[in-house]
Amino acid sequence: NGSTGAGTLPFTAINPVSRVVDQMTVPAGYDHGVILRWGDPLFADSPEFQIEAQTAAAQAKQFGYNCDFLAVQADDETGLTGLLVSNHEYTNENIMFSPEFIEANPQEVADIGLAAHGLSVVELRRDSVGSKWEYVRGGARNRRITGMTEFTVDGPAAGHELLKTAEDPTGTKVLGTLGNCAGGFTPWGTVLSGEENFDGYFNGPVTNNEAQERIGYADEPTARGWEKFHPRFDLRNEGYVNEGNRFGWIVEIDPEDPTSTPVKHTMLGRFKHEAGTAVVADNGKVVVYSGDDQRHDYLYKFVSAGTYVEGDKKHNMGLLSAGTLYVAKFTGDSPAAQIDGKGTLPSDGRFDGCGEWIALTSDTESFVPGFTVAEVLINTRLAADKVGATKMDRPEDVETNPVNGRVYMALTNNKDRTEVDEVNPVVGNRDGHVVEMKEAGGDHTATSFVWNILLLAGDPRMSSSVYFQGYPKEKVSPISCPDNLAFDSRGNLWISTDGAPGTIGYGDALHKVVLQGPDRGRVAQFLSVPRDAETCGPVIHDLDNSVFVNVQHPGEDGEWGAHTSLWPDHLPANGPIQVGDKVRAPRPSVVQVWLTEDQ
Ligand code: FEO
Ligand code: CA
Ligand code: CA
Ligand code: CA
Repeated sequence: NGSTGAGTLPFTAINPVSRVVDQMTVPAGYDHGVILRWGDPLFADSPEFQIEAQTAAAQAKQFGYNCDFLAVQADDETGLTGLLVSNHEYTNENIMFSPEFIEANPQEVADIGLAAHGLSVVELRRDSVGSKWEYVRGGARNRRITGMTEFTVDGPAAGHELLKTAEDPTGTKVLGTLGNCAGGFTPWGTVLSGEENFDGYFNGPVTNNEAQERIGYADEPTARGWEKFHPRFDLRNEGYVNEGNRFGWIVEIDPEDPTSTPVKHTMLGRFKHEAGTAVVADNGKVVVYSGDDQRHDYLYKFVSAGTYVEGDKKHNMGLLSAGTLYVAKFTGDSPAAQIDGKGTLPSDGRFDGCGEWIALTSDTESFVPGFTVAEVLINTRLAADKVGATKMDRPEDVETNPVNGRVYMALTNNKDRTEVDEVNPVVGNRDGHVVEMKEAGGDHTATSFVWNILLLAGDPRMSSSVYFQGYPKEKVSPISCPDNLAFDSRGNLWISTDGAPGTIGYGDALHKVVLQGPDRGRVAQFLSVPRDAETCGPVIHDLDNSVFVNVQHPGEDGEWGAHTSLWPDHLPANGPIQVGDKVRAPRPSVVQVWLTEDQ
């Protein structure tokens, strides 16, 4: 990571911050600054951001909206140049545009929205290790991928009938990536990004289509109305019944080559992919864990057929094209009668048990009766429904701890949880939980595992169901709705949250959780984000004394002219509002937090 220091990110937990505070709050001894904001020009010829003069052409050359996944990497040992990759999950038209602008420019607003989705690749530089990164306008690797960028479809389902449309009779070329939530850097230097809530971009379903109903397309015009200008976004239009099948994949991009064609990998299945982080198992195979973020949906993993070859990027970029896709089944080890739905620990003192990975398909053979390989991959939820997979409380990020080798899964919440089991033990699970898994023999390609609940989230002062591995509840920070997970170099878990304002009433946060030793289970809040925002994409460079987060959808609950947030442009540190900015609005941004003094 170009981290040449030996920092430990010492901090005293901040107090939780009221949900209406429109500022970043960081610990004593730390400072913070914005690296990139929505609309910042990425190329030499990019127009400057002018909120009342937005165009799709300008947006396609500027940093996109609602940054979620974030990667920050130094290029080499000097640590003075680097690369940032961020995705842009969705758009909030209600606070991006005035009602008058939307009324006067409906197609331009749709096309700006398409251009504001996708990913950004941006070069970084800094004067010295440990100082703040700045983005490089016009960097050689800078790139925007949008809702209109051409992707190649790869893997066993590429070219299948269910992927063909009037515009693409080959079923192998898709325009755009949408709803990109969490993701990850691969060991071979590419980026994976999960297409999550793609259903909201389509008017559907068509009549009597079980697979489309399982996805849950709403039978009404979409909120953004893109289907009025781009017929592919209405599944009932002639020739477009399959357009929705072309979203909901893990995509891979090569950030080092701005001319490369990004790829949609069918081998990893199609569902509301929250994330995808690749890890190389001891036997050299590559494993990708990915959750399906919907109430009562599943956890999946992919195991490659081929093995990783250090330094051979071309070979490694083919590893996600063939292998086996599994879905998880969790079994508790305590009597079901002891799981009371209130979070009371069972008699063995732990929510824990074992589990198995049920193979759904390889690249050549389906293991689900009645489904071909391609049908498993395209209608993965329907296939997983057949095999007894465990219905979870909205699996969000799933990440492998590089220090202890265990796998951690954030389950953000599930208000519809009525029937509990030991791995989802809280009725109406308001605050979510985190599961810790250990593959058999520590082998990521294993088909069985053991698991335990690391924590049941909540505010210990208000909720009796919270559980922090037995760590004293009066000494932890309140935490709710875990979403993204990350690790520091020592293997501590960092959790960012999405939804705390609506549950425990505090702003969304980033927390550190100790996993080893007597403090295991100690949750300490590191920062809080501005009003209405969620904390996304944490990157922990502890050796470099820095933490990075994406601040997504600040001011989301406001309206144009009645903004609940104006972050970050109201901050003096960002200078005066630019000439031409007739109205200020909040701007989703990438933030660096760094240690300024010894604790
Ligand atoms: Fe986009 Fe599951 O959070
Ligand atoms: Ca138990
Ligand atoms: Ca997320
Ligand atoms: Ca979320």
